[in-house]
Amino acid sequence: PGTAVVIPAAGRGVRLGPGAPKALRTLSGVPMLVHAVRAMAGSRAVSLVVVVAPPDGVAEVRRLLDEHPLPGSTELLVVAGGATRQESVRQGLAALPDDVTTVLVHDAARPLVPVDTVDAVVAAVHEGAPAVVPALPLADTVKQVEPRTGERAGEPEPVVATPDRSLLRAVQTPQGFDRDTLLAAHEKITLQGEGATDDAGMVERLGVEVVVVPGHEEAFKVTRPLDLVLAEAVLARRRA
Ligand code: CTP
Ligand code: MG
Repeated sequence: PGTAVVIPAAGRGVRLGPGAPKALRTLSGVPMLVHAVRAMAGSRAVSLVVVVAPPDGVAEVRRLLDEHPLPGSTELLVVAGGATRQESVRQGLAALPDDVTTVLVHDAARPLVPVDTVDAVVAAVHEGAPAVVPALPLADTVKQVEPRTGERAGEPEPVVATPDRSLLRAVQTPQGFDRDTLLAAHEKITLQGEGATDDAGMVERLGVEVVVVPGHEEAFKVTRPLDLVLAEAVLARRRA
């Protein structure tokens, strides 16, 4: 009771390339999802982890988690996800027991987030922030472009603006929320297309303030093949 984590893990991992669903791919022999669950259960505040599995992979995920038991007493639930990340998170939220007051949402695709980052997010929510995101300054300058579509698809895109980089942050997970705030966001806000890629963005649309705490380089998202190389290197360094 108290603090629970929802881990959306139902994506296919198209950008990673062909193979098993991304969350089930292994990093030094252990499924990415198991790394992510361990990272969350490593925080003393976390008493429940709800894993949102690919709809056709619930039994397999349950089996993988049983094969890699957690130390300690963190409870684990597995539910089926949906077609978008937003739907998957919603399925996870629906499984939360009533006594949960703080909810973290953490991508299975960020398996190496350090426990200190998790604890910092939890602490900020416990201190009264309704929504908290870990974030880092950007290394690259960012440009806004005007996408070319239809007949002009494939032509070079014109740059429209260059936002001041010092005001931008790259946002990670776990994102932490007061439970009622996150539930209200998921009830009231529906974004078009892919849905929300970020839960805090939905809370912003409610008009509720979201605050930032320092993120961590090792909380990067495994998205493309090169990210697997980096993740393996981080794990090797931790073992050394
Ligand atoms: N996710 C989910 N349900 C979906 C889509 C995504 O639970 N329908 C989860 C992913 O499993 C991942 C997290 O949301 O842990 C972040 O999404 P992303 O990195 O985009 O993963 P994928 O959607 O799997 O990857 P891709 O977009 O390359 O297909
Ligand atoms: Mg995706």
